Amino acid sequence: MAKFLKVTPTIQRFQCNPQELSVLAGDFSRCLMPGDWIFLIGDLGTGKTTFVQEVAKTFDIKDKVTSPTFSLIQEIEVSSSWTSVKKILHLDLYRLKYPKDLYYLGLESLFDKTKSIVFIEWPDIFSKEDWNNFFALTQCTEPSRMIQIKISYAEKFRDYEIVTVSKEGF
Ligand SMILES: Nc1ncnc2c1ncn2[C@@H]1O[C@H](COP(=O)(O)OP(=O)(O)O)[C@@H](O)[C@H]1O
Ligand SMILES: [Mg+2]
Repeated sequence: MAKFLKVTPTIQRFQCNPQELSVLAGDFSRCLMPGDWIFLIGDLGTGKTTFVQEVAKTFDIKDKVTSPTFSLIQEIEVSSSWTSVKKILHLDLYRLKYPKDLYYLGLESLFDKTKSIVFIEWPDIFSKEDWNNFFALTQCTEPSRMIQIKISYAEKFRDYEIVTVSKEGF
């Protein structure tokens, strides 16, 4: 991860139930810029996919956002005029066995730094070296900004810790 650290990260914490999550997702989506990669970290069932679905809703997506647990990657077109984000890529790496499988995702042809943002569930199953190799060996451009969201369980809500590593802040 240190590869992405350009300045001291800012950390923000939120607690939300499913209803309140739409407000957080709305605020979050307005901060997103093409080229962003969002790493979602948390146990099974903590709400990673739900978070992506809520963010997608604020982008006025027509198609239903499903969990890419089996497809590994989902591509969502955005047509909203208020944002320069035109495509959301949603990856779930849980079922990838080997870091080398990253190369077969075809991310390099799907990710356009000027249009796309990428959400990645289970990025932590790969080491920093794997990601460095991925960028080195494919044509995939590196993210402009990396945002890390750690989600943890709480009784009827979830705890979200959002860390951004951009110069602009968040
Ligand atoms: N903020 C939240 N508060 C309470 N429950 C939530 C919240 N976000 C998601 N959930 C619930 O947690 C469950 C698992 O969510 P999911 O997004 O599939 O998790 P993951 O992708 O991390 O495995 C779902 O039933 C969902 O409704
Ligand atoms: Mg999921």
